[in-house]
Amino acid sequence: ASKYKPFAPVGLNDRQWPDAVLTRPPIWCSVDLRDGNQSLIEPMDMARKLRMFELLVAMGFKEIEVGFPSSSQVEFDFVRKLIDEDLIPPDVTIQVLSQAREHLIRRTFEALHGARRAIVHLYNATAPVMRRVVLGLSEDGIVDLAVENASLFKSLAAEQPATEWVFQYSPEMFSGTELHFAKRVVDAVTEVWQPTPQHKCIINLPSTVEHSTPNIFADMIEWMHRHLARRDCLVLSVHPHNDRGTGTAAGEFAVMAGADRLEGCLFGNGERTGNLDLVNVALNLYSQGVAPGLDLSDIDEVRRTVELCNQLPVHPRHPYAGDLVYTSFSGSHQDAIKKAFAARQEGDIWDMPYLPLDPKDLGRSYEAVIRVNSQSGKGGIAYLLESEYGLELPRRLQIEFSQVVQHVMDGTGKEQSARDIHGLFEREYRLG
Ligand code: KIV
Ligand code: ZN
Repeated sequence: ASKYKPFAPVGLNDRQWPDAVLTRPPIWCSVDLRDGNQSLIEPMDMARKLRMFELLVAMGFKEIEVGFPSSSQVEFDFVRKLIDEDLIPPDVTIQVLSQAREHLIRRTFEALHGARRAIVHLYNATAPVMRRVVLGLSEDGIVDLAVENASLFKSLAAEQPATEWVFQYSPEMFSGTELHFAKRVVDAVTEVWQPTPQHKCIINLPSTVEHSTPNIFADMIEWMHRHLARRDCLVLSVHPHNDRGTGTAAGEFAVMAGADRLEGCLFGNGERTGNLDLVNVALNLYSQGVAPGLDLSDIDEVRRTVELCNQLPVHPRHPYAGDLVYTSFSGSHQDAIKKAFAARQEGDIWDMPYLPLDPKDLGRSYEAVIRVNSQSGKGGIAYLLESEYGLELPRRLQIEFSQVVQHVMDGTGKEQSARDIHGLFEREYRLG
């Protein structure tokens, strides 16, 4: 049983809650090695790619987009390495991306030769601005492009029958595409691929650029969910970006609106402002009592590996994972946390002021929770002396000593560590 409860709006009974709450995790797909990688200042070399792949596998991802093999030799070689050196666990499926162009698709299938199972991901742009300005194609032209290349997928897959193929199609810029037209293109591709409920294909709807509020994106997903042909033969996937800073919300609302699967990157890496942050969504689920099916029990290790592979820092205030997120600077917060820890019994539901989640569940420690600076009060100081040095101060001494610490901090303007405070305490009261 989880120690976290789904959030209930205070004052409403069960029947008055919104019915759209998440009760199970989506199918996760990491695109760190593709969308994430293509947006790095310094794209990953083979060693960093492999490290990222191993991390994703260890965390429990079962679908991993490992690259864009027709785009460069490194991308091609990495896919070959995974297959040739038998590095893909039996329960993990690799996914690769290809543009809707014949020579690129042929090269993509070449890269996958000998794979046990693979998701091959076809995309072409569908939005009016891309049709008009970039591709110079009419609506019919876009449908033809998608259908021709979907057919090529089918015939190339038939040439390699030993591989279990799963086809995926993305109408790139779905978020800016007329819904009726998006449905027309997707239905045409589905008609070519002829999926069945036993052998589904994946339809992935990206907010390539996040143009709208997340509820609007979710409404678009809901419309597609209700209107797409052969819905029971499709895995409906979404691929939110984060241009408005609402990628997480867009993904969560989209799943509530009917999507089955979420694509994203760890800590929201990805083009421009990033892709949907998989860690954020997984831990939002976890902190509401839903097991996400991803191992985040050592969040610092995950973060260190991602920082090494991406050569980009994770912000200190990043939800759940940043250095500062289990740190309380304010005296009143520190005091409340201290009281709540003292009152907590084994097996209690997590109901702690200022801490949405138990840091221990992510391998973070309580020592990091309370720090003392010029904004904090006696509660934090007493907590540190007690938890770190076993010194339990009577209340009057807490008040007296906090003035001593405050005086030092006013003078130096510097935060005081537990060690500094203990040193001050010893000097002041001449212990030892
Ligand atoms: O954001 C996007 O549209 C993409 C597609 C290629 C799926 O990354
Ligand atoms: Zn993308």
